[in-house]
Amino acid sequence: MFNFYNFAVSISALNTMLNLIVVFADPMPMRRNYMHHIWTEHVLNGKSVAGSDVMMAPWIGQQYKNSQNRGSHEFYFNQNIDHFGHKAGLFKQRVLINAQHYRDGGPVFLMNSGETAASSSYLSAGEPYSLVKETKGMLIIMEHRYYGKSYPVSDMSGPNMVYLTVENSLEDIANFVRHAKEFVAKSIGISISAKSKWIATGGSYSANLATWMRLKYPGLIHAAYASSAPLLIEEDFYQYDMVVGRALSCAPRIADAIETLDLILDSQNRTLIHNWKRACGLGSLKDDADFAGALTDQLSHAVQYHMPPQPGSDEKDSLAQICSWFSYTEHNPLQNLADMTRSYISSNNIDVRSTYTTLSGANNIQLYQDGRSWFYQTCTQFGYWQTAPRPPLRRLRSKYVTSGWQSSPCHAFFGKSVPPQPDVDSVNKRYGGLLPNVSRVVFVNGLLDPWSSLSVAVDEEISRRISANGKNTVITMPRASHVTDFYFASTRTDFGVKEARAKILGALWYYLAQT
Ligand SMILES: *[C@@H]1O[C@H](CO)[C@@H](O)[C@H](O)[C@H]1NC(C)=O
Ligand SMILES: *[C@@H]1O[C@H](CO)[C@@H](O)[C@H](O)[C@H]1NC(C)=O
Repeated sequence: MFNFYNFAVSISALNTMLNLIVVFADPMPMRRNYMHHIWTEHVLNGKSVAGSDVMMAPWIGQQYKNSQNRGSHEFYFNQNIDHFGHKAGLFKQRVLINAQHYRDGGPVFLMNSGETAASSSYLSAGEPYSLVKETKGMLIIMEHRYYGKSYPVSDMSGPNMVYLTVENSLEDIANFVRHAKEFVAKSIGISISAKSKWIATGGSYSANLATWMRLKYPGLIHAAYASSAPLLIEEDFYQYDMVVGRALSCAPRIADAIETLDLILDSQNRTLIHNWKRACGLGSLKDDADFAGALTDQLSHAVQYHMPPQPGSDEKDSLAQICSWFSYTEHNPLQNLADMTRSYISSNNIDVRSTYTTLSGANNIQLYQDGRSWFYQTCTQFGYWQTAPRPPLRRLRSKYVTSGWQSSPCHAFFGKSVPPQPDVDSVNKRYGGLLPNVSRVVFVNGLLDPWSSLSVAVDEEISRRISANGKNTVITMPRASHVTDFYFASTRTDFGVKEARAKILGALWYYLAQT
C-alpha cells in the first residue's frame, strides 16, 4: 500500500501533470452546519448576528452628533431585488459605516460580508479597519443579499432563492457605489469627496467578489484587497485534504484509520458498522455516508482555522491536539479517530442528528438561515464540495464522502430551482478562474489554508503571471491559515501576519497613487 511518502510524491506528480507547482490550501465551507463555511463560524464564534443587537462603538455619539441617526450605525439601502429585470421591487440591504477616521479624499473601503451576516466587530477591529485608520479612509460594510438581515424575500423556498446569484451580488455593490454619496450623506451627514477612491475588500468568497468587482467595474472600484480568495471554482474540491495532509504530522495514521473505516463500510455488516458509529458518538446517524462525513469535521476545522499559540501563552495548538489523539499506538488508528470524535462531539455539545444528517432541515423554509443560503450558492454556482483525492493519493476522509453525496440534498432543499450540478464552468469562464484579467488587486493567502489550493498562491507560475510588472500583488504567509490576515489581525501579529500587513498597506498606497 502507499505510505505517506508516496502520498507526497504523488501530489507533486499530480501537480506537475496539472501544471500546478505546489498545492496548498482551499477556501470555502463544507456543507451546511458542518461544512466549513468559509469563515463565518470562526469569526463569529458560531453565533449568528442576525437579529441580535448591534454592538455600539464608543465613537458613535460624537461622530453622528449632527445626524438624525445619532446613536445608530446600522443603515438600510434600498436595493433592487433583481438587477436583471425578472422581478420588480426593492429590499432593504443592511449597511454599516465607520467614518471616524475619514478625511477628505481618503479612500473608501467597501467590504461585502460574503456568506455571512455583516458583523459590526469589523467596524473597530480587523485589517480593513487598520487600513482605514492608516489611510484616513472610510469603512463601509455591506451585507450580502440573503444573509443577516438582508433578505429580499419572505421565505427560503426554492423559487424564492433564484435572485441569490453572484451576478446580482456584484450588481448590488455597483448600484450601491453609484448611490453612495447621497446615501452616506443622508445616513451620517458626511460627504464623500469626489477625490476618494474605492477599494473593494473581503475574505474568502467575499474576496472573490472584491476581485470580480475590480474585473467588472474598474471605473467604480479603483483597487481591491482580497484575503484568501478561492478564485478557481471546483465542484469536486479534492485539493482541500491535500493541504490538511501537509498540515498534520499524524496524517499517515489518519489515512490508516480511513482505510480501515472504508473496509468496514464496504463490508455492509450492519452490526459492525453500528458498533463503530457508537464508538464515535455518532450512533444516531442512520446513513453511512453521513457518518463518514461527520468524521471529517474536526480535522477540517482544526486546519482551516489554525492559529499557532500566542508565544508565552498556555494556548494549545489545534494541530498538535489532533495528533495527540493518534499517539496512543496501543490502540489502532480507527480507535484513535473514534475516541477523538466522541470527545469532540461531547465537549462541543454537538446535536449529532441535526448537524450531520444530510437532509436535516430540508423543508424548513423560514427566513434567516444563512447556512441554507450558502448551501444554495454551492448547489447552483460553486460546488466546492470537499472530497477525498482519488487513489493513489491517500485519503483523510472516506471514499463515501463524494461530491455526489454532498450535492444530493440540493434537490430536496430547493426542488427544481437548482440545476442537477452547479454551473461552475460558467462562473470560471465569466470571471477568469485563477487568472482574472484584473489589476491593482492585493491577493493574500496563508499557505496552511486548505482553500489556498484554489487561489492564485496555488502555483508560482500563476502568482508570477498575475503579479507581473506590479499589476497585482500576491502575498503569502507560510504558516498562516484561512483569512488570518483579515480578521482581528491587530491582536495577532506573529507567524507572518505582521509582515503581510506591512506589504498590504504598501501595495495599496502604491495603487492609490495611480490615477
Ligand atoms: C459482523 O460483525 C460482527 C461484529 O464485529 C461479527 O460478530 C459478525 O460475525 C459479523 N458478521 C459477518 C457475517 O461477518
Ligand atoms: C483585459 O483588460 C484590459 C483593460 O481592461 C483590456 O484592454 C484587455 O483587452 C483585456 N484582456 C482580455 C484578454 O480580455
